[in-house]
Amino acid sequence: MPRKIIIDTDPGQDDAVAILLALASPELEVLGIVAVAGNVGLHHNANNALKIAELAGRADVPVFAGCARPMRRTLVTAEHVHGDTGLNGPDLPQPKTALQAQHGVDYIIDTLMAAEPKSITLCTLGPLTNIGMALVKQPAIAERIAEIVMMGGGYFEAGNITPAAEFNIYVDPEAADLVMRCGAPITMMTLDVTHQIQSTPERLNAIRAIGNKSGTAVYEMLTFSESFDLKKYGWDGAPLHDPTVIAYLLRPELFDGRLCNVTIETASELTVGMTVADYWHVTDRPRNVNYMRNGNAVGFYALLLERLALLP
Ligand code: BDR
Ligand code: CA
Repeated sequence: MPRKIIIDTDPGQDDAVAILLALASPELEVLGIVAVAGNVGLHHNANNALKIAELAGRADVPVFAGCARPMRRTLVTAEHVHGDTGLNGPDLPQPKTALQAQHGVDYIIDTLMAAEPKSITLCTLGPLTNIGMALVKQPAIAERIAEIVMMGGGYFEAGNITPAAEFNIYVDPEAADLVMRCGAPITMMTLDVTHQIQSTPERLNAIRAIGNKSGTAVYEMLTFSESFDLKKYGWDGAPLHDPTVIAYLLRPELFDGRLCNVTIETASELTVGMTVADYWHVTDRPRNVNYMRNGNAVGFYALLLERLALLP
């Protein structure tokens, strides 16, 4: 039986690759995609999610719009990385399918409450606003979630939007704090991992060489979004973030880390959004997060290549 997942996302080129990887994988059943404000505004992110589902030939997957701004803060966006539409690079057609009428937060709540307990995994690729709001509106969802696998945070590699904070956590630290404390099993794919999963020219060329529409689009997307990071880090390839969430579901052995406490900084102006990871167990705070620290880039790109080749 495929594992049932809901993808909560702010696409975003790397989100798009994650969604394509999920839709290409028979081990996973994508029940729905929920957009959230993050990389760019909600309107673009939701529209991009529709475009990606259509690119994968999966217009049957329902797409919902969730929250347009963080729980308590003004939205911070990242057009400087992702472009003004959030998905600059490929020239994808405007979607033919429409968004679902239901609000994304209600979709998450209703789906979890109606399903068998612990049968649905939430994959979060953006700020945690929708999940935080769902937990506020219906706290009973916490014990019904099989697992939350998120891209967010970082400790050893520090931050990417501030010196201390990773973007997804920084945008809505109050939502992230609620999620960390909710009691559901959490796996965190951090910057410590994603900085090891670099999209080098050889890897991008291999994706383009697949020769299908999806491979070409991924090549064009990542070529666009990596240009900012290549200058910033001076590495051969840019970090690739969100697809590690899906790769973890498919091949957990590609990653390693440990169960430890992660607490979100919400008060300090200097370090707000920091994921304070008690990796060395120096406190007795509850071990609430399966914190991933390392990833096997060769294995990851082999998997991505294999799966993208299955798409249109
Ligand atoms: C995260 O921020 C976004 O820009 C990416 O899509 C990813 O989810 C990386 O910090
Ligand atoms: Ca994202």
